Amino acid sequence: MSTNKRLTGKVALVTGAGDPRSIGRGIARALADEGADVIVNDIRSDWLSSAVKDIQARGVRGAAFAADVSKPDQVAALFADAVAALGRIDIVASNAGIIRWEKFLDITPENLRAMVDVNLKGNIIVCRAAAKQMIAQGGGGRIVITSSVQASIHFPITPVYGATKRAMFPLVGALAIELAPHNITVNHIGPGWVQSALNDPEPGQQTEEGIEATRQSVPLKRAGLIEEMGRAVVYYASADGDYVTGTYLRLDGGLGISKYTL
Ligand SMILES: NC(=O)c1ccc[n+]([C@@H]2O[C@H](COP(=O)([O-])OP(=O)(O)OC[C@H]3O[C@@H](n4cnc5c(N)ncnc54)[C@H](O)[C@@H]3O)[C@@H](O)[C@H]2O)c1
Repeated sequence: MSTNKRLTGKVALVTGAGDPRSIGRGIARALADEGADVIVNDIRSDWLSSAVKDIQARGVRGAAFAADVSKPDQVAALFADAVAALGRIDIVASNAGIIRWEKFLDITPENLRAMVDVNLKGNIIVCRAAAKQMIAQGGGGRIVITSSVQASIHFPITPVYGATKRAMFPLVGALAIELAPHNITVNHIGPGWVQSALNDPEPGQQTEEGIEATRQSVPLKRAGLIEEMGRAVVYYASADGDYVTGTYLRLDGGLGISKYTL
């Protein structure tokens, strides 16, 4: 059977992909549209059956498992269940993340712990599980972390979030070097403004005027689409990304560069 799809025969796992509006779901859809079988993960189990239907409607195999990425035992179970369901894991999009808006002097211990647990520890735990599985099965692999434009520019009311995202630079760099002998590439994408549920409580976006001001701050004058985030992961995951490791790709309509230059 001939196919022009770039990921036919590959199996992908995407964390934080339960919410239909989420970047993770956009990544899962884009991978499936290129022929990959996809395992969806989310901390919430109520979204999982609709996520599997969304994947299977694209003509590939789908499965979904609940797990909190910040819990090593749950991540170990997720990978075991995923391999049992679909046989192997070639691509991991470590995407789950959370944000809290607080000035530095107002940071609560609960929010500090939550962001460090999910955004920092969670990515480390998922990347370790991914690397171990890919090395054990052989044949290389692809790991793509979702960091943020906030890995490279600074917003005053998200200091902890920004720090956890900036931390993906040394993590991705060190992993890219350590895993290169196994032909496993490691990269991260930096979304700018995406109108997922994550941003619904954002203080600056509670009015039409606030949303318009956000839009005007983006040189391309619009929010990014979840599928646009997904197609960047496809690039890294496909043969197009064979020689690309340890890199960061901003997907922000120019937001980051305008912050630097205007
Ligand atoms: N939306 C944006 O503008 C934006 C911009 C830059 C970066 N990002 C990053 O993109 C990623 C996805 O963000 P989003 O906008 O889709 O967020 P979202 O809140 O819309 O979706 C995140 C999904 O992850 C799940 N999740 C949360 N904690 C989890 C955990 N511990 N384990 C497993 N799943 C968990 C949620 O239930 C949800 O389905 C995050 O890492 C976020 O920091 C988002």
